[in-house]
Amino acid sequence: MADNIVWHDHKITRAERSVNKNQKPCLLWFTGLSGSGKSTIANALDVALHNRGYHTFLLDGDNVRHGLCKDLGFSDEDRVENIRRIGEVSKLFTDAGLIVLSAFISPFTSDRLLVRNLMPSGEFIEVFMDTPLDTCEQRDPKGLYEKARAGEIRNFTGIDSPYEAPERPEVRLDTSVMSVDQCVDKLIGYLLERNLITQV
Ligand code: ADX
Repeated sequence: MADNIVWHDHKITRAERSVNKNQKPCLLWFTGLSGSGKSTIANALDVALHNRGYHTFLLDGDNVRHGLCKDLGFSDEDRVENIRRIGEVSKLFTDAGLIVLSAFISPFTSDRLLVRNLMPSGEFIEVFMDTPLDTCEQRDPKGLYEKARAGEIRNFTGIDSPYEAPERPEVRLDTSVMSVDQCVDKLIGYLLERNLITQV
């Protein structure tokens, strides 16, 4: 715990930063199994928002684990710390006025709730990639399910490590039955409906 450290208020507020960017910040939190389409859909939405002139930033598990979280593995404890760090970083980017897209398995309900509670009300949008395990395993884009089934990788989510599905996500997507464009349209529709964006 940090002792003897006093919070310093910035002269430029969060609200002023977002006014300059002419947009409302929010955090789209993509959660789901490996291979469920988190990165694909987050990237496609990122492009769609960028093309509409919005200022965005994308945080992705595989990339962040090369840097900020390269000291962490896949034990329950390390996953908790992984999501805590990403949550804090995501919040900082929204404080900077950005629309943030974060794509992490984030298997535990309590960790996702922790991030939700870091954010002002209405700015945390949980996007549950509800693609069935069978489909994820058939896709196996990185060959990791095969290794996990063979016992070459331990603690693999969905195989020998749990995934706690969100009960009331803001948006639910299933890429086994929805195309990338359909998923992006649903997300854009949600953001418009909530007045988080205005460009159709
Ligand atoms: S999380 O559980 O801590 O949220 P994160 O999203 O950062 O996970 O990283 C998941 C990615 O790491 C997967 O897409 C996969 O490529 C890789 N990975 C390597 N080992 C594992 C494992 N044991 N369980 C899940 N993903 C793993």
